[in-house]
Parts: sequence; structure tokens; C-alpha cells
Amino acid sequence: MLRQILPSQLVSLADSVFSQSDGNYKKAIATAAIPAALGAYVLYYWRQGRDLPPGPVGLPLIGRLPWTDPKNLHLTMQKVAEKYGDITSFYLGSRLFIVLNSYPMMKEMLDDYNFAGRPRLRLFLKLTRDCGIIFTEGYMWSQHRRLSLRTLRDFGFARAQTVEMVDDQLDSIFQTLDEAATSVTPMEVLGTFILASNSIITEMTLGHRFERNDPEFQKVNKLIKKLLEEGIVQTASALFPAVERFIVLFPLSSSVVHDVEYLHSFIRKEIQQREKVMVDESTEPECLCDVYIHEKRKAEKAGDFETFKEFQLIRVILEFFLAGTDTTARSIEWLLLYMAFYPEVQTESRTSSTP
Ligand code: HEM
Repeated sequence: MLRQILPSQLVSLADSVFSQSDGNYKKAIATAAIPAALGAYVLYYWRQGRDLPPGPVGLPLIGRLPWTDPKNLHLTMQKVAEKYGDITSFYLGSRLFIVLNSYPMMKEMLDDYNFAGRPRLRLFLKLTRDCGIIFTEGYMWSQHRRLSLRTLRDFGFARAQTVEMVDDQLDSIFQTLDEAATSVTPMEVLGTFILASNSIITEMTLGHRFERNDPEFQKVNKLIKKLLEEGIVQTASALFPAVERFIVLFPLSSSVVHDVEYLHSFIRKEIQQREKVMVDESTEPECLCDVYIHEKRKAEKAGDFETFKEFQLIRVILEFFLAGTDTTARSIEWLLLYMAFYPEVQTESRTSSTP
């Protein structure tokens, strides 16, 4: 069969290879295959890397994954930066990454609209239906980003009203830490900080507090923590675009979808409560949700049923939780650890914050 379709020269070459002894045959194949694979590999990276910043070469399909420590990504990046400079490029999985390692460069990029794009991952699109702030781009993104930032400012973010919320949460944190100090078992403080951050975000977005031991609030906290910690499916989708369509079929991904849908329905119920409180346009908004309800009614009167649709508000609120909880809680945890290691910083911060 093979012989019929090969040109005559190749047939005679194949004949000579096939007629050799078994050892010679394997040797001939290996001798031809190794340079061919190396050549293809070099060609592949040369074509991919022509216009890219410098960076380390990885393996086909998996890129630099074998050289990457997922638990200490920053150390991996630091090593790459030391060798290749402030802007580097490499593949992780089959996705190209461009990494910035300089603060001024990052600041410049974050201020530039050209870099405001987001990866259009199938799983994220399925979960977000292209709504919200974090995973969207273009007109919808800028509209909602602007409105939510303005609302946070109007509600006195980092001013009197939020200081009061923070004070209340500090009371609970101190109580938990005091209890832990008298106990002999070590405690994980991150959970306490996550609860505190979430409580403040709940108040800012949904206009009321939950008791710390409220079962539904505890479930919401647990799911948010789980989503942030167990990013396996999200990571796999991000690193292997070619297998993305199959990842959504894995049971693990359906558990992510299930958890996110639970959070959506929790927020939907809360919005419905706020809609009852916001009787008409004369009712003064008390939280981000109220402002959105006002905007939604205004837009609908003008015939726009898209920009402020309910799911858009659900996503914006959920994303405040996802973006604000872990970042804030881990910053506080890090500060605590830093002060434990450097008592002189602790003393200095205590003196400078005492009126
Ligand atoms: C120490 C605490 C925090 C840190 C270190 C932090 C850091 C960041 C960073 C680096 C970004 C990406 C910026 C970009 O891509 O343009 C971001 C985006 C965002 N953050 Fe924070 N953040 C913190 C707290 C918060 C809090 C408390 C909230 C909400 C209450 C929040 C809400 C958001 C939102 C909604 C975005 C998406 C903005 C967008 O895509 O346009 N963050 N944050």
C-alpha cells in the first residue's frame, strides 16, 4: 500500500532501510528522527518568538511548566527576570505569557486602554455570560467599572462610613485573636480576615450585615474561599486553549459551575429584597445594589434593557467579593506576619497611629 504511493526514489531508499538488520533499522530511524524533531522544535520557537521579548525556551505543548513552581510562582518569575530583564516572554502550557517585572512598567500598562483586554476563556464566558467587570472588555466593562468606582467613592470608601464598618469588624477580629491567645491550639487567622473583608463588602454592596454565624453567609464565605483556592479547572483552561472545550465536561468543572450558580442565586435573592426597599426614584440609595437598581430603572425607561440587566448586577456584586476578599484578607495576614517577624516595625506603626 505504502509502496504504491511513494515516488520511486523513496521506494528504493525504504527498501534499503527495510532490508537492513533490525538493529540497523532502529538506528537509521533514530538518526533521522532526532534531528528532524530538533529542527521542527527550533523552527517552531523561532517562528513563535520572532517579535517577542526575550525569555527562556520551554518544551513543545507544555512550555516552561516543568521549571515552574506553582506554589512559588513569584520566585520562578524572579529568576526569569534576573536572567532576561524587566519584560520577558515564555510559554506555560501552550499559552504565551508576557511578564512584566518592573513597577513603573506595570503602572504604565494598567493605565493604558490598549492593555485592558481579558482572556476570552470558554469556562469564564460560560460562568459570566460576558457580564461583570473583571472578565469583560470594551464598552460594558468601562461603563460598569466607572459606575462602581464612582459609587464606592460616593459611599465614602475609606472615609467615615467605611471606617465605622472596619471598626466593627476589628472588634470581632480582636475577640477571635484574644480567644486564640488563651487557647493552646494554633489558629489559622486567614479565615477570620476573610470573614471580616466579606462582611464589609456585603455591607457596601448589599446594604446590610449578616451575623457571622448565619448559615447562608457561612456557606457563601466557604464557596468564595474554595473558588479562589481551587483554581485547577480555571488554570487548565487558561494554559491549554486546545483542550478547553473538553475541560468544561470534567466533573470538577461542573462543581465550579454549581458553586458559582449558587452564589449567583444568593445574590439574586438579595437584589430582589433591595428592589422592594427601593420603592421609587426618590428613595435614597444605601449601597451599590441600590444605585444599580436606580440606573436599571432609568435605562429601562429609555428603552435600554441590556446595560443594567439583573445578571450584570449579580456579576458585579459577586466580582467585588471575589476581587476584594482574598486580596484584603491576605494583605492583613501578611502584615501580621511581617510585624511578628519585625517587632521594631510593630512599635513604629503603633506610635505613628496613636493620636
Ligand atoms: C489589598 C487589597 C487589594 C489588592 C492588592 C487589589 C489588587 C487589584 C489588582 C492588581 C487588580 C487588577 C487591576 C487591573 O487589571 O486593572 C484589581 C482589580 C480589581 N479589584 Fe482589587 N485589590 C484589592 C482590593 C479590592 C477590593 C477591597 C475590592 C472591592 C471591594 C476590589 C475590587 C476590584 C475589582 C472589581 C477589580 C477589577 C477591575 C477591572 O477589571 O477593571 N479590589 N485589584
